[in-house]
Amino acid sequence: MSEAGTSPHVVLGVGGGIAAYKVAQLLRLLTESGHQVQVVPTRAALQFVGEPTWAALSGRPVHTDVWQDAHEVPHVRLGREADLVVVAPATADLLARAAHGLADDLLTNTLLTARCPVLMAPAMHTEMWEHPATQANVATLRARGVVVLDPASGRLTGADTGPGRLPEPEDIYAASRALLEQDAPDEAAAGDLAGRTVLVTAGGTREPLDPVRFLGNRSSGKQGYAIAAVAASRGAQVVLVTTSSLPDPDGVQVLRVETAEQMRQVVLDRAPAADVVVMAAAVADFRPADVADHKIKKTDDDTPPPIVLVRNPDILAEVAGHRARPGQVVVGFAAETGDSTSAVLDYARAKLARKGCDLLVVNEVGVDKTFGADHNTVVVLDRDGGEHPIARGTKADVAQGVWNMVLSRLAPRAG
Ligand code: C5P
Repeated sequence: MSEAGTSPHVVLGVGGGIAAYKVAQLLRLLTESGHQVQVVPTRAALQFVGEPTWAALSGRPVHTDVWQDAHEVPHVRLGREADLVVVAPATADLLARAAHGLADDLLTNTLLTARCPVLMAPAMHTEMWEHPATQANVATLRARGVVVLDPASGRLTGADTGPGRLPEPEDIYAASRALLEQDAPDEAAAGDLAGRTVLVTAGGTREPLDPVRFLGNRSSGKQGYAIAAVAASRGAQVVLVTTSSLPDPDGVQVLRVETAEQMRQVVLDRAPAADVVVMAAAVADFRPADVADHKIKKTDDDTPPPIVLVRNPDILAEVAGHRARPGQVVVGFAAETGDSTSAVLDYARAKLARKGCDLLVVNEVGVDKTFGADHNTVVVLDRDGGEHPIARGTKADVAQGVWNMVLSRLAPRAG
């Protein structure tokens, strides 16, 4: 582990896949932002990109096997010194060897000795990714705390397309930073939102039917609270507009509302002062047309009263459509279901365009996507067509990833 205040040590394990050439770009991003990177390519990786490239870009000799400099016991030293191990591309073979604890080369030895966070960015053909053996290995690694990114979808090595592409180097870099910041939140992450004002909504709205009943939804508000808490911890001035009764996050101004119309009023009132608006609330699309002023009674003939609904205003579309402040970044949330990940992302992309926001955080609900109470798996879509998976993690981890994306779209502060 590196001392507090020194540049983080990253072991970059490169697997034997054609996507190794993209990892040269990841290496550049890491070294140019001050990380000390030790590249550990597998034998197969060197078939794709040679040792001189890794040595020149990292500025240090490359370690390739356990017998080189054996007096330094490199397989133990590298793992112990690392603040983060990143494996990219993580081939099906490497995932299998890591999941089974094999130690048949320097990289797998390093994975066994490392006690720091480990990030794996898979790349392989769709059939190999979807094979139950690979999926079981990924599940084993994730259960052990390894962050395994979902591969991106798109053109593969040949003419074929599908899930299996290496996530973009910028996205692997962002996930690496999030893991390093998670370990040293006060050093790296704190302060990068200082001077920014952000407005966050959270929870599900409650639309009254009468003085005692309402139409609501199951949103807990936890993800929105994590978004607000992380923004405050990174130095932002945060206003949280919420329907939830979760405890107030530290350093956040909390404004409580119930209905979509109340949320709209507060959001429109506060948006002009905000550099960023994040709409994480589950806003009811409809509300009862009339609210009875007395509790609705059962009738003698037991006929249930009809409930007539009217549309609620779309707050996100309104905020995004009338930017009250130049350069304001507007972020929406969407929980989508679909037959496949690509269908989910197609619906979500259409939603992003319809709402006019800059970023849409998509919860994928569907095949092979499970939700735990405190964990989340999201993909962030941007208005320029970019697709950024955020490593599966707690809602706070996801919030860190969302703020990293927002930061990349915020204009630099003057001065
Ligand atoms: O259309 P859908 O409800 O899936 O959109 C979700 C996104 O839009 C969320 O960011 C939510 O906060 C926002 N929304 C809104 N006003 C509505 C409905 C949704 O701001 N009436």
